[in-house]
Amino acid sequence: MSKQFVIGNWKLNGNSDQIKSVLGAVAQHQFAAEVGVCVPFPYLALAAETLKGGSVQLGAQDVSRYASGAYTGEVSAPMLKEIGCRMALVAHSERRQLFAETTETAALKIRLCIDAGLLPVYCVGESTEERNAGKMQETIATQLDAVKDLPVDQYTIAYEPTWAIGTGASASPGQIAEVHGFIKDKLGNGARVFYGGSVKGSNAASVLATPGVDGVLVGGASLNAQEFVEICKAAR
Ligand code: G3P
Repeated sequence: MSKQFVIGNWKLNGNSDQIKSVLGAVAQHQFAAEVGVCVPFPYLALAAETLKGGSVQLGAQDVSRYASGAYTGEVSAPMLKEIGCRMALVAHSERRQLFAETTETAALKIRLCIDAGLLPVYCVGESTEERNAGKMQETIATQLDAVKDLPVDQYTIAYEPTWAIGTGASASPGQIAEVHGFIKDKLGNGARVFYGGSVKGSNAASVLATPGVDGVLVGGASLNAQEFVEICKAAR
């Protein structure tokens, strides 16, 4: 059975001291699972230095849809690879909601990540309104168009229902198992699907034990070294 994967997503949080203190503390541990942390762009170099020589992987929270050129403010997949990233989040719901990310732009980013040797962690998930309208499957099936025709070993899916992000209330094991099963049915059982949305030290073991869960994406709790280590230790 392949290792599970725990990825922390710091979002727009942190500073140099926290990079050194939190990542320094996490890096002291050996985990059965794969562990990674996605920090804000300005701290990638410091994070790479802090994690150097250890097993915790570095990731970015977004990536440009362009490989290079006159695109002011962008950060390319090759640049992220060069600075030591192993993965990049693509199309996080906050990018879709606030920064005009679409399934079409995500498809471009995913392919550039693969070309650069980064693991794209492609985020999908439905809103409260979509779930309540019975449109969860329709929403996610459309989002999965971004990875159609790609080999499942070249990307990872992160299922993050927007109604569970930052609320403190994760989806239930039954809801997680249903959606992960739907995604694997669509993409093939070899697809890796992580869950994200209010994963905490208190519920991590239950979420990670849910059928179809290959890992978790952790927001708020990843900023607390002790709680993040607790979550990482709950993964196999
Ligand atoms: O990418 C993970 C994030 O969206 C989940 O956030 O704070 O609910 O764990 P949080």
